[in-house]
Amino acid sequence: MTSTTPKKVRVPDLALMKQRGDRIVMLTAYDATMARLLDRAGIDLLLVGDSLGNVIMGLDTTIPVTLDVMIHHTRAVARGANRALVVADMPFLTYQVSPEQATRNATRLFQEGGAAAVKLEGGRAVADTVRKLTAAGLPVMGHLGLTPQHVHRLGGMRQQARSESAAHELILDALALEDAGAFAIVLEAIPDTVAEAVTSQLKIPTIGIGAGSHCDGQVLVSYDVLGLFDTFAPPFAKQYAQLGQVIVRAAKDYANDVREGLFPKSTLSNQQTSDLAGRRVIPSLNDRAFEELKGARVPVR
Ligand code: KIV
Repeated sequence: MTSTTPKKVRVPDLALMKQRGDRIVMLTAYDATMARLLDRAGIDLLLVGDSLGNVIMGLDTTIPVTLDVMIHHTRAVARGANRALVVADMPFLTYQVSPEQATRNATRLFQEGGAAAVKLEGGRAVADTVRKLTAAGLPVMGHLGLTPQHVHRLGGMRQQARSESAAHELILDALALEDAGAFAIVLEAIPDTVAEAVTSQLKIPTIGIGAGSHCDGQVLVSYDVLGLFDTFAPPFAKQYAQLGQVIVRAAKDYANDVREGLFPKSTLSNQQTSDLAGRRVIPSLNDRAFEELKGARVPVR
């Protein structure tokens, strides 16, 4: 590591950040290119969320997302992340059957996906599982409030913990997760006052999404932040760019240039075109093989 290499974020850093009052920043990422960009921006945690079912796969819910799909995307994000801590969601019914099932499946996200932590939804119902995973050395992030894998039981994607008794239940769930060894908890779509109460009662950090400003950190779906996902925009998300519009504009300009014969330009000589194409397509060629390839005028891809 050189002095310019940013220090990698590790699980124990998050508790220190809470103690110091440093806000934790988390965004979702689903591929290596986006992970590299978000990492470069200094995002502390990259969540390979099962929200990829919605934003990447075009599904209505996260329920059909499988463990193999999560491993595939986690591996890509882990390749792109340098400083950020990579957290992978455990998908629907890969941890609820038994702590043993959860351990087997979480292990795959670490060993095959390269995750540094997993996130799972639920409170006291999954506390034994969280205890087992953390005892095995697998860091766990909890997720309470609106838990999208429970969408059918919850009757839709709506705010949770609205009544006094529901808020009390949520606080008990949060305390149970902390006691079981969770290192942080995502609080999704709950009243600010409830998130504030949970945050003040826990030693571990809370990371809010639609849960107000009193949490120790914030998470959003990167496609919402960047204006890429236009099917549905949650009211609590803020768009910091409209990349969807930028992409449509660029693709239209490209289509127009091709149709009008403006791209590609034929200003380069055949020799230059061959040089560029050869170097780009097969950069590992040695000089002799490259000269032979140029002579053969290999078609440009
Ligand atoms: O899957 C996801 O993206 C999430 C975040 C919304 C917290 O769980």
